[in-house]
Amino acid sequence: MTSAACSGLAPNALGGHCGHMRKIIIDCDPGVDDASALFLGLAARRELDIVGVTTVAGNVGPALTARNACWVRELAKRDEVPVYAGCARPLVRPPLDARDVHGASGLGGLPVGVPAKGVEPQHAVAWLVETFRKAAPCSITLVITGPATNMAAALAMAPEITAALDEIVVMGGASREGGNITPSAEFNVYVDPHAAAAVFACGVPITIFSLDVTHQVRTTADIVTRFRASGARIPALMADLFAFSNTIKHDVLDAPGAPLHDPCTIAYLLEPSLFTLKPCSVAVETASAIAMGHTAVDFRARQGQAMPIKWAVQADAERFFAMLLARVSAL
Ligand code: RIB
Ligand code: CA
Repeated sequence: MTSAACSGLAPNALGGHCGHMRKIIIDCDPGVDDASALFLGLAARRELDIVGVTTVAGNVGPALTARNACWVRELAKRDEVPVYAGCARPLVRPPLDARDVHGASGLGGLPVGVPAKGVEPQHAVAWLVETFRKAAPCSITLVITGPATNMAAALAMAPEITAALDEIVVMGGASREGGNITPSAEFNVYVDPHAAAAVFACGVPITIFSLDVTHQVRTTADIVTRFRASGARIPALMADLFAFSNTIKHDVLDAPGAPLHDPCTIAYLLEPSLFTLKPCSVAVETASAIAMGHTAVDFRARQGQAMPIKWAVQADAERFFAMLLARVSAL
């Protein structure tokens, strides 16, 4: 089913105006900022029906991203949400992790134990295919905050699964901001550019939160203080995660505070007015050694060229952090 076909169907909209919850799947590589995105999603009980969480190799290896998702789920007291471990390496490119940014555990300096409940026995890709095949048309939103390997593999197994999706919301890519893992590429797309290209071209409406917008939401010392002073359990824990990220001397710290990438995807689902989006087309570099993983964004409507992607260009950072803090304080 193409994106146009979804427009005539009852949208998988937030409970706000249709009274039903939005079904979502969060595909992630926790990951310090993935953890914040999971906390926000797990806190939005009234608006988001998290059908499942799938994990992928990215910031750290596959066993650790799976363990970390289960640990965050336990901290959020949402063990009823199933977690499925996914692909252990990119489709074509060699594995690459970001332990230098997320710590050896993947969750910064957070004390991490063995979760009481682990992952489900089914592989994430098989579960995605089975779930999308059984789902009603346009009934599920997929959020991807790591390399897009799992969804690309699912599309290769069963291209028809696009009919079940109303939108794919991605954290990845960069245009105006330049890259964070190379001068021209953002980490998620760089790790698996072939997967990103396949997902961007699958025909489902795509909304992308790239470095262009995530660099506008930074965990400054003031934000760390506000989260820590909240007196609530999870914000205080997130303050420690933010503080860890702020100690990392990496190139994106060209302004006070580390960018908080992944929660932008969930915040958009809960409060779209936080962001300004522009239609565009996006091509992913999968061959050049120098520009591997670059996302070439074209905002110009060319004769006969589709503009299937919405690219976030602006964020209201003050409202974003106020909403994030209010939501996770309820966990
Ligand atoms: O480039 C930032 C992205 O890469 C984030 O999703 C972060 O968690 C890492 O996966
Ligand atoms: Ca991530």
